[in-house]
Amino acid sequence: MKPVPSQNLNQDQFNLVAAAIAALDTTYNPYSGYSVGAAVRTQTGKVFSASNVENAAYGSTICAERMAIGKANSHRERHIVALAVSSRPDIPNKRHDTAAPCGSCRQVIYEMSQVSRCDIEIILSDADKTRVFLTTIEELLPFAFGPKQLQIDISKFR
Ligand code: THU
Repeated sequence: MKPVPSQNLNQDQFNLVAAAIAALDTTYNPYSGYSVGAAVRTQTGKVFSASNVENAAYGSTICAERMAIGKANSHRERHIVALAVSSRPDIPNKRHDTAAPCGSCRQVIYEMSQVSRCDIEIILSDADKTRVFLTTIEELLPFAFGPKQLQIDISKFR
């Protein structure tokens, strides 16, 4: 995946990345010290942001992406069209790779793409926007498993 210059982002993309970066400061990350902020934009233009929330039982940690999706859902906003993810390790200036959604988050993002019936745009960036990548859920999770495979009708949740 090739980085795109941050100046090339349109206003909606720029605002979503800004919301994800702002959410970095709300992280609860005593175990990893790694901050992740995520923001989703819905079809109505609303933005919901959240960060990673860790747990002493490490596996109970919830990623920023799923927190942001849950927050949108709790406002009855399920038609997600775009997601921005920003990451910041606790050791400044240490070389690190830009975070991309983990496997579980990709599966949850895919589910929401079946609700919104669109290939959710995903913007990955570092906290200082030195690296920005544009992708989509179908690129990150090709040939995915979803409600169609189970022949489940999710239309009443739209
Ligand atoms: N994390 C996220 O919030 N999103 C991801 O997609 C990758 C990982 C969090 C979970 C944990 O709090 C920390 O990053 C280190 O794994």
